[in-house]
Amino acid sequence: TPLYSSAASDVYKRQVFGKGQIAKLTDLVPSNTKILIAYGGGSIFKNGVYEQVKAALDTQFLANEVIEFGGIEPNPRFETLMKAVEIIRSEKIGFILAVGGGSVIDGVKFISAAVNFEGDASEILKKRLLFKDVSKVIPFGTVLTLPATGSEMNSGAVVTIEATQEKLTLGGSALFPVFSIVDPSVITSLPKRQLQNGVVDAFTHVLEQYITYPHDALLQDRIAEGILQTLIEIGPDVVENPRDYKLASNFVWSATMALNGLIQKGVPSDWATHMIGHELTALYEIDHARTLAIIGPNLYKVMFETKMDKLAQYGQRVWNIKGNSTEEIAEKAIEKTVEFYHKMGMKTKLSENTDNFENTADFIVNRFEDRGWKALGEKQNVTLEKVREIVEMSY
Ligand code: NZQ
Ligand code: ZN
Repeated sequence: TPLYSSAASDVYKRQVFGKGQIAKLTDLVPSNTKILIAYGGGSIFKNGVYEQVKAALDTQFLANEVIEFGGIEPNPRFETLMKAVEIIRSEKIGFILAVGGGSVIDGVKFISAAVNFEGDASEILKKRLLFKDVSKVIPFGTVLTLPATGSEMNSGAVVTIEATQEKLTLGGSALFPVFSIVDPSVITSLPKRQLQNGVVDAFTHVLEQYITYPHDALLQDRIAEGILQTLIEIGPDVVENPRDYKLASNFVWSATMALNGLIQKGVPSDWATHMIGHELTALYEIDHARTLAIIGPNLYKVMFETKMDKLAQYGQRVWNIKGNSTEEIAEKAIEKTVEFYHKMGMKTKLSENTDNFENTADFIVNRFEDRGWKALGEKQNVTLEKVREIVEMSY
């Protein structure tokens, strides 16, 4: 029996969750327009997801044209996505179906925004443009195959410009998926490395919105702690037994809830770990989650003064740490986090993930300076000096 019935998933009307739910596509995709199915490197052909998608579409769309666009790479490339933009323009496509992980979904968000954009579409990324008018974007739905990013239920995206090796964001309320289908059983075909990545990415998403400073939003804190505890409880097991539906469904639901806006309402958020981490992927192609495991704990050390109270709350409530002082509990909480990342297969030093990293801090600091990113974090006190310290501590 599915852990969550489809009725439970009606809490979020168009967030369809549960085993066998890909068949719901039949009712969710529009019937009056051409559709582009976008996917990645081909995992969907090996694990049965493509057949399920096709079966659901064929029942309703025998007469309709469905065009396919594959080859969206992990850390999707602007250059590749622009090819899909051309196809949509020339074929007059009215709806996109993203079938894949965060990279495919993010790629589709960019495509959706770029089709009607006049001028050089790389400006969307370079200027971090926000899209708020749904009439200006191409509507899209998603079939998620990798729980990690929350992209299936948020309006943000990250795209890499190959030419300049820049990993940049875009977003805006017009870029929410029209619907998302999340069937936890799709994780059974994921390589262990990707399962580990998913747990750590989701975990860090919560920390970015939680390890800040004490505030009055009590429920958001409790929900954040609940997601962290769930990931700690199931993370190590789900990477070994992705076929266990109880583990799989709790993992996927945690990952979606970690970055769908739920815990972010009315609270400060940091995101400096992500901004620095994105540079490590742009430079060395290190998996997104792995960059977070390298940077996050060092950021907590460097920003210890401002984050100590929240780190201690996290230590007490999430890890059950006892100690004589706030400081001691906060320090132990960082240690526990690193231990957890190791348990999840992360290597938390940059030198363990790439060679020739000596100039990384210089490079990142210069780049941030060029972009005018001089004050990151929930208190805007992650200055360029702090960024340097964090990156050097991560070597
Ligand atoms: O390309 P295919 O062949 O599909 O293979 C993928 C890819 O090689 C494979 N995969 C996905 N589902 C599978 C599967 N293999 C077997 N079975 C399945 N069911 O996994 C590999 C990685 O996929 P990818 O989509 O790149 O991973 P992920 O979901 O972790 O996405 C990472 C991207 O999302 C961005 C990251 O920066 C990175 O570019 N993020 C997006 C966010 C957002 N939109 O809110 C927030 C995040 O913090 C993150 O920055
Ligand atoms: Zn992330």
